[in-house]
Amino acid sequence: MSDATLNLVQAAIDAAKTAYAPYSNFHVGAALLLDNGEIVTGSNFENASYGMTLCAETVAIAKASSDGKLRKIREIAVAGGLEGRVGKAADPITPCGRCRQIIKEVADLTSTDIPVHCAHASGYETFLLSELLPHGFGPASLK
Ligand code: THU
Repeated sequence: MSDATLNLVQAAIDAAKTAYAPYSNFHVGAALLLDNGEIVTGSNFENASYGMTLCAETVAIAKASSDGKLRKIREIAVAGGLEGRVGKAADPITPCGRCRQIIKEVADLTSTDIPVHCAHASGYETFLLSELLPHGFGPASLK
């Protein structure tokens, strides 16, 4: 486990502190590592109309995009858990299916098989996007 990745995972754990999750009480943070070392974070944002909820990964990627940094994203860390237990589950918390599709957009735009570092109680486990979303549909599919 590298120090740089542990730092990114910690940024995801810290980001979960701003989660707005009054319905599930499941707090999630995401941290994006940009090509210049900068970290952009996001947390889940729930809604009384439950299905409107935005996941942490989606919030972070939308933040980066609206700041003109979409093409700079290289790696992602995710941490989740019930309030006070973020990153403490025995098994890694992996991105939901919709977020995998959102990450696919970044992977195609950057021609990078984005590593997704998923926090758990003893550190993190890294999955490549191609493992999380094999045979995915993305911008390259439209060519
Ligand atoms: N959640 C995320 O933020 N990211 C994921 O990849 C999985 C789920 C959020 C959505 C909802 O606010 C809460 O976790 C419980 O599903």
